Amino acid sequence: MPHNILLLVLFSLITTPLFASGNIKAGEQKSIVCAACHGTKGISTNPMWPNLAGQHAVYTLKQLKDFKIGKHRNDPSMTGMVANLSEQDMQDLAAFYANLPINEGHAKKKDLLLGEKLYRAGDFKDKVTACIACHGPQGLGNAQAGFPVISGQHSQYAVQQLMNFKQGKRTNDLNSIMQDISHRMSQKQMQTVANYLSGLH
Ligand code: HEC
Ligand code: HEC
Repeated sequence: MPHNILLLVLFSLITTPLFASGNIKAGEQKSIVCAACHGTKGISTNPMWPNLAGQHAVYTLKQLKDFKIGKHRNDPSMTGMVANLSEQDMQDLAAFYANLPINEGHAKKKDLLLGEKLYRAGDFKDKVTACIACHGPQGLGNAQAGFPVISGQHSQYAVQQLMNFKQGKRTNDLNSIMQDISHRMSQKQMQTVANYLSGLH
């Protein structure tokens, strides 16, 4: 059907600039300063430093911009890192990390089923929305919608982000999506679901 093809072409014309302007090779060069914390392959050794490997470029780009503005997402380790990055630097870095393979983590057995249940079905009583609705069955999110990859992420980092959303320290989520959800979550729920997603791939 020509109509569908036309739409497809138009759609890719609209969305391409979001993805295509970053240069992976240039990003690799620029990532040398980041490797101290995020690892040379975008997988960090400290559980409080996020893995960046395989993350959607649009999401990474948005986070770097948010850190630079510093209003809705702020972190002392990142503030100095983004201060001198240009738009092109951020595009290149985002493209570089998106191109690396996602971390294959291992979840702990303890409370794994509880975490899986919360991830896949949510919690009706506490009105916690199922994570799967946006982050997907494999935790791969959705680039266009702005839903990040969360599979294979360090559970300590993930819990910290959920706490930051809950306490209003991180407010860069569109329509307060994550602030609303984390608000209804207990620390125990955060820990069980973060453990589950750390081993998801
Ligand atoms: C001194 C350690 C350190 C260095 C160096 C560093 N980062 Fe970070 N980065 C962090 C920490 C800690 C966080 C988590 C901040 C938070 O809690 O919000 C973070 C978060 C991020 C995030 C958000 C990830 C997500 O999943 O939301 C991105 C993207 C990022 N860093 C990219 C970079 C890039 C690109 C560089 C190099 C230009 C860099 N970082 C250098 C420590 C570092
Ligand atoms: C309605 C959609 C939606 C649902 C449901 C949802 N999320 Fe999110 N989540 C998002 C969006 C959007 C972001 C990124 C916000 C931004 O742009 O910084 C996010 C970010 C996150 C982050 C931070 C990722 C990082 O690298 O810093 C974590 C962790 C997370 N979500 C976990 C969860 C968990 C656990 C659940 C289920 C209890 C859940 N999310 C349910 C949309 C959703």
